[in-house]
Amino acid sequence: MPVREIAKMGQPVLSEVAKPVAAEEIPALGSLAADMRVTMAQAGGVGLAAPQIFQSLRVIVFHTRRGAPEAEAQVLFNPTWEPMGPERVTDWEGCLSIPGLRGLVPRYAHISYAGLDGEGRPVAREASHFHARVLQHEIDHLEGVLYPQRMDDLRNLIFESEREAFQNGGATNLVE
Ligand code: NI
Repeated sequence: MPVREIAKMGQPVLSEVAKPVAAEEIPALGSLAADMRVTMAQAGGVGLAAPQIFQSLRVIVFHTRRGAPEAEAQVLFNPTWEPMGPERVTDWEGCLSIPGLRGLVPRYAHISYAGLDGEGRPVAREASHFHARVLQHEIDHLEGVLYPQRMDDLRNLIFESEREAFQNGGATNLVE
């Protein structure tokens, strides 16, 4: 389970629409998912999408709560989501492909999502807040979208190192 190189913003793979995975391919992609988990853990992330390790496939790994141990990382193939209600929440996000920066990003507060798990079984769940934000960020990666493209105001795209200069408290550590 080697740690893989993480693609940084500017790499074309991060702007591509990733390819769906056929259900029968999932067993063979177990090692990709395992590499994604260890790469995410080593980088201190809470989510990672396959394009971030130069694989243009619809695969994500993610945590559903803050501070979760590595063993709790979930994997989902061909994930989709939709909002449950209009409520949106703005919070800080980071991205392992955009190291050092943070941005204030509006996301739906409540969503439903679906996909296939590591054994190819259908998964359908509801998620709120942190869990919902991670899913929206990761599935955006599969569409070639990075979080700055979701921001309302690019004045809130800042270096992590400078955040405390004007943002007192409320800092989260959400890096995907
Ligand atoms: Ni990201």
